[in-house]
Amino acid sequence: MPVSDALVTAARAARTHAVAPYSSFRVGAAVQSADGRVFTGCNIENASYGLTVCAERVAIWKALSEGVRTFTALVVVADTPHPTPPCGACRQLIWEFCGDVPVVIANLDRIIAEYSAQALLPAPFDGRTIAEP
Ligand code: THU
Repeated sequence: MPVSDALVTAARAARTHAVAPYSSFRVGAAVQSADGRVFTGCNIENASYGLTVCAERVAIWKALSEGVRTFTALVVVADTPHPTPPCGACRQLIWEFCGDVPVVIANLDRIIAEYSAQALLPAPFDGRTIAEP
């Protein structure tokens, strides 16, 4: 199912709030819950660099902290002509918390790419691995 224009628009708007003084690379994200709500995030950097949080994780944390447990899609937006796909850490967390959702990569003008969460993280480590040793 294609993601809604509203989800892409929300990710673009979230990007404008990015706290990225070190990289100047601004990213926005938006996740949709099964009941249709939209939660957004932007990347947030800090002076230690290593505590930077990606836009995807901020959006997922916001949704989880509001009680959301079922997701239908995630959008990532950066101002690049080529896709900006989620980093490895975010892929793990998208898979664990959002499941096999469509991950849509867009820039300020258009959708560039779409992957499934599973395609982004083949052979994942997750709760099933622990439950079935
Ligand atoms: N970043 C994201 O927020 N999401 C991605 O998918 C890729 C990278 C951020 C982290 C950092 O603040 C900046 O982009 C440069 O890596």
